[in-house]
Amino acid sequence: MRLLVTSALPYANGDIHLGHLAGAYLPADIYVRYHRLKGNDVIHICGTDEHGVPVTISADKEKKSPQEIVDHYYRSIKEAFTGFGIHFDNFSRTSLQAHHRLAQDFFLRIYEKGYIYEQEIEQYYCQKCKRFLPDRYVVGKCPRCATDGAKGDQCENCGRWLEPFELINPRCLICDEIPQRRGTKHWYFKLSTFQEQLRDWIDSKTDWKEHVLAFVNGWLKEGLQDRPITRDMSWGVPVPLEVAQGKVLYVWFDAPIGYISSTKEWAEQKNDPEKWKPYWCDKDTRIIHFIGKDNIVFHALIWPAMLMAYGDFALPSDIPANQFLTLEGDKLSTSKGHAIWLPDYLKEFDADSLRYALTRNAPEIRDADFTWRDFQAWHNNELADILGNFVNRTLTFIQKYYNGMVPTASSYTEQDNKILQILKAGPSSIGSKIESFEFKNALQDLMKIAQQANRYFDHEEPWVTRRTNPLTCERTMFVCMKIVTTLAVLSEPFLPFTAEKIKRMINYIPQSWDDSGSPQVAASVNPPQILFKKIDDAVIDAQISKLKGSEISIEEFEKVKLKTAKIIEAQAVEGSKTLIRCMVEVGSGKKQIVAGVGKYYKPDELVGKTVVIVENLKPAKIKGVLSQGMLLAAVTDGDIVILTTDRATPSGSAVQ
Ligand code: 2FM
Ligand code: ZN
Repeated sequence: MRLLVTSALPYANGDIHLGHLAGAYLPADIYVRYHRLKGNDVIHICGTDEHGVPVTISADKEKKSPQEIVDHYYRSIKEAFTGFGIHFDNFSRTSLQAHHRLAQDFFLRIYEKGYIYEQEIEQYYCQKCKRFLPDRYVVGKCPRCATDGAKGDQCENCGRWLEPFELINPRCLICDEIPQRRGTKHWYFKLSTFQEQLRDWIDSKTDWKEHVLAFVNGWLKEGLQDRPITRDMSWGVPVPLEVAQGKVLYVWFDAPIGYISSTKEWAEQKNDPEKWKPYWCDKDTRIIHFIGKDNIVFHALIWPAMLMAYGDFALPSDIPANQFLTLEGDKLSTSKGHAIWLPDYLKEFDADSLRYALTRNAPEIRDADFTWRDFQAWHNNELADILGNFVNRTLTFIQKYYNGMVPTASSYTEQDNKILQILKAGPSSIGSKIESFEFKNALQDLMKIAQQANRYFDHEEPWVTRRTNPLTCERTMFVCMKIVTTLAVLSEPFLPFTAEKIKRMINYIPQSWDDSGSPQVAASVNPPQILFKKIDDAVIDAQISKLKGSEISIEEFEKVKLKTAKIIEAQAVEGSKTLIRCMVEVGSGKKQIVAGVGKYYKPDELVGKTVVIVENLKPAKIKGVLSQGMLLAAVTDGDIVILTTDRATPSGSAVQ
């Protein structure tokens, strides 16, 4: 069997965190390690996604060039992957010239085949920066929740997807200038042409993960729209057309092509430049793209359509996307600092403990939550007390009573045979789960073996038989050595560092995954070392407090003065469909507040209501009108509901 496994190319604009690892890289690594142990022909391809607005915005923020940003994060991301034992056969970069050439070739071939067309559109232009602004370069107020700082593609506060023209008070992200609408040209990929072909293809994928299919089918049902694939930027792959000066390919057009260019680079490094071809062009190769939930549409629809348009390459066989991981109950957020960065984690803990926790609780079917307390419990009670304990008690016993020489046995009891049968079934039961992307269940099977091994040890009582029946004791320890050897092989996909340590301790004789169910045992062992040291409460408490640094304290919250206020006058702000100017009474005082609720309330409906306001917000001008506070409202999907009081309440009352 030939397999090409890819993991989503991470943006080279920041470090990798826990969510990334759980989403794509860890399951991919487990999958690849397993297939390699099975003796299958498998390669794992990745690299950094170095183009696009995420990179240029980070560069602007950090006052560095995009090249400096991607150089830095390429190294740091690569190092973090190595630290976690995520092994790639090649880890490339999309800023390489070879990648640019391939992406341009892709564009041109599809263009020549008539799947790309040019279209005149209007776009925001910043006169001060003298450039057209790609969507995330325009910021303004969200038309739905009125939060300032919403980006031209999405409001991070309420989650609504936006077009730059929908923003209220749009400004250029870089210089704050008000942008103007101007006519420009962009190139569109005819995604709509592939609707039927994609429909048929997806219909044949009955064994894909349900949530992936549900998501894709939702898009197909809506009807696929053509997509602009060029952007006005200087950082990226230049559009290979004379008439497209100053434009680059949209990052999501060039990024997946990076899977191919990285495979080509791998072949060149092997001094066999054609070696990449069977992986991409042979219909018998299984191409598996491991990705996170937010990448589904690009991999399951747009990328296959690009491949269909281009013609020479095989389509993905499976796209086992994971759901999201939350951290201590909240969404991971880079901007709010609510994340665990892999380089930080590695300074204090072992990679395998996190690999274990993230697999044990993988967001395979639904979203999952990571907590430090679970992490500690699983490390201490499962890795240390079950797996670590069994290996340690076996090796310590052999070391102590047999001087490190492994005893042998010529016959077995019923008890021995029972556990030997369990070992025998291990490779195929764990393997079939890994093959169907059920990593969590596969890990559970592995731990069950370790658990049953401990029970066997307890039941056999070798510390007693050593004196009462030495032959029985020898037999027991031989069986225990078999178990340790099997565990060394079967744990490798999940816990590669631990597997390596065990192998060194047991003078491991190399054997395949399938053979490891009836393993070959070495003649002697080395002095054992503890595999998992228990993690103290204090260490975990410190991690939790570190995370809480991103939460606000009660003192900070108390700085926000919330009060009841009565709306005594309300008028639409001239020239705006969404803004309403409200005069409110707050106790004996009055204030003017501009609220972005015009789409949901008529001014008259507001008058007389007792609402909740933020009283001590710094005054600001909104569309030239002074606003001296903020009105609180519940924001739902498609509606905004102003908060009022449950009973008649005098205005100016504190809200706590
Ligand atoms: O979401 C992301 O991090 C993207 N950089 C993933 C790209 S995957 C592939 F298409 F390159
Ligand atoms: Zn500007």
